Amino acid sequence: MTSETSALPQIQLGQNGPMIGSQGLGCMGMSEFYGATDEAEARATLERAVTLGVTMFDTADMYGVGTNEEFLAPFVKNHRDRIVIATKFGYTRTLENPDDWSIDNRPEFIRAAVDRSLKRLGVEVIDLYYMHRRTDTVPLEDSIGAMAELVTLGKVKWLGLSAVTAAELRAAHAIHPIAALQSEWSVFTRDIEKEVVPAATELGVTLVPYSPLGRGLLTGQAFANALTGDDARRNFPRFSSQNREANNRLVAKLEEIAAKKGASPAQIALAWLHAQSQRLSVKTVPIPGTRKRNRLEENVAAISIEFTSQEVDALEPLAASVQGTAV
Ligand SMILES: NC(=O)c1ccc[n+]([C@@H]2O[C@H](COP(=O)([O-])OP(=O)(O)OC[C@H]3O[C@@H](n4cnc5c(N)ncnc54)[C@H](OP(=O)(O)O)[C@@H]3O)[C@@H](O)[C@H]2O)c1
Repeated sequence: MTSETSALPQIQLGQNGPMIGSQGLGCMGMSEFYGATDEAEARATLERAVTLGVTMFDTADMYGVGTNEEFLAPFVKNHRDRIVIATKFGYTRTLENPDDWSIDNRPEFIRAAVDRSLKRLGVEVIDLYYMHRRTDTVPLEDSIGAMAELVTLGKVKWLGLSAVTAAELRAAHAIHPIAALQSEWSVFTRDIEKEVVPAATELGVTLVPYSPLGRGLLTGQAFANALTGDDARRNFPRFSSQNREANNRLVAKLEEIAAKKGASPAQIALAWLHAQSQRLSVKTVPIPGTRKRNRLEENVAAISIEFTSQEVDALEPLAASVQGTAV
């Protein structure tokens, strides 16, 4: 199935945001975590995404410790009015101290972090600004209050949260409208379906599933080559040699359905996510990450794949059977 057979439907960002393509592009792997990147191919992938109707491009200040934002800057400049650039604050790691994974939600940290991101991205305003992780050492009111100030100052257009609970989402939304919630959601990781998804639906928040391909596991190709030393997945339990066989047996279910439909397992994983978000009536814009044009085209084309109820039923038990935590 090729991209030529698909067009991206439009989804509204939050309650007052723009209409955007129903699948975005995760840019994290272009700078860190998943092994070496061919920079020219990654840039070509960004350009191809725009031509395919992808609107939302996802980064964070901690991806490559700032270098991912810098990498995206020329691309953002060239397409400023056509794209939504989303970035995040919260982790304190620096180039001097890249292994410092502490989280800071203090207003003074947020005010300094946004200026660093604006500079690295080379923009005057960030479209969507997420709190990457929440720490309860800072009252939510203080952090959301500081984020809301950034909107008033014109440094940020819309606010987002990542990996928060339904209660935190509701509390934050009562202080300032939250346009987007980013959380892990895939056929292997479905924890948010019970409480978080209904809260997002009720509040009109757009859900942005991250790692929708299970960090590559759901594509059936994660182990095509040995993971290199700089690939963070070597340390993730679902990729461990102990769990690999059991998890690959689950991936085989996706492969079976994919073969019947003339699609790829990655497409089945994404199509399942779109079907599931329709079933749960939540506005959803997954952000699969890739650095390769052919994979991007394949992922975008997943939008036009439809599921029978038997196929949905066949995938239902997978999340409960997966071995190991995601990270
Ligand atoms: N908020 C958070 O805490 C958080 C956490 C994690 C990620 N994120 C965001 O979510 C984005 C996506 O998540 P992710 O990158 O972790 O995982 P993902 O999208 O589930 O999977 C990405 C992996 O799948 C591979 N891949 C992509 N399409 C493929 C295809 N069609 N066939 C075979 N392999 C394919 C990619 O390799 P290639 O790149 O080599 O194609 C990469 O290794 C990130 O880029 C980041 O922006 C946010």
